[in-house]
Amino acid sequence: MTIDKKFISQFVKVTTKAALASSYLVGKNDKIAADKAAVDAMRSELNNINMRGKIVIGEGELDEAPMLYIGEKIGTNNGPELDIAVDPLEGTNFAAKNLPGALSVIAVAEKTNLFNAPETYMDKIATGKVERGVIDLDYSISKNIKNLSEYKNKSPEQMTACILDRPRHKKIIDELKALNVKLKLITDGDVSGALLVSKEEYNVDIFLGIGGGPEGVLAASALDTLGCFFQCRFLFKTETDKKRGYAMGISDFNKKYELNEIISGDSIFCATGITTGDLVQGIKLEENKFYSETLITHKSSNINKIIKEEQYI
Ligand code: FBP
Repeated sequence: MTIDKKFISQFVKVTTKAALASSYLVGKNDKIAADKAAVDAMRSELNNINMRGKIVIGEGELDEAPMLYIGEKIGTNNGPELDIAVDPLEGTNFAAKNLPGALSVIAVAEKTNLFNAPETYMDKIATGKVERGVIDLDYSISKNIKNLSEYKNKSPEQMTACILDRPRHKKIIDELKALNVKLKLITDGDVSGALLVSKEEYNVDIFLGIGGGPEGVLAASALDTLGCFFQCRFLFKTETDKKRGYAMGISDFNKKYELNEIISGDSIFCATGITTGDLVQGIKLEENKFYSETLITHKSSNINKIIKEEQYI
């Protein structure tokens, strides 16, 4: 089974409308309003699609989020059964502060093929296409860098590692520095950070560190189509985290997940720029028109492209 190609343009419309709605709030220093605008627009577009969709990753549990909550049924209730992961505004700070890198993101898979990720942190590691055993979440930083350096025939000084700039990463950052690996320290937005391993032109050899679990699953869905390597481990720190994990059917809290356990089968991934970043340009508004850019992947038709659109408002 595959997801029909006709859905691609419909999901592009979903992230584009969400990005447009949020773009009016860029630079207003109000991340809640920017997020709400994206959520409302995304939900209303999703409900126009002929599908029996279910939100598996969204704005939170029903008690926290009235819209796009985990488990919400979405679409016209007529069509294929699809599991949907959304991040209507990835990089709320970027949008609020008018900084590069805010995106509107969606990943779609056939029913049961997308991991129902709890709202916890996730330890992640990603790189381009490598053979089995080259990179592993459980290897030391130096072993991963040494292996990747040999595999890519590049010295560590010629390699770049992307990681969220957080105090929790001090040890990893110090180790990378000691190995002479260049750093790309991102302040937010690790969906985009992870995707930078997918093309040589982004100049990122490895992405690693702890970020949001939902963001990890979203990135994984595109990395899968792009033939990249990804592994992760959810981090269950509090009792609430553990309860949520149990409720989602997770019993081994230390399990390391391979990419094919996070997403399998066919998928569509769309990321539309709200503010211009490493992957795509942001929304450009004119009096009665807007311009947008969306990164799209569709596994079964091997689509991996960025489309530029110009539309009347
Ligand atoms: P929001 O868009 O929800 O603000 O998330 C931004 C983000 O940087 C994610 O990309 C990342 O996974 C997560 O926050 C990291 O969390 P924290 O800021 O707690 O380290």
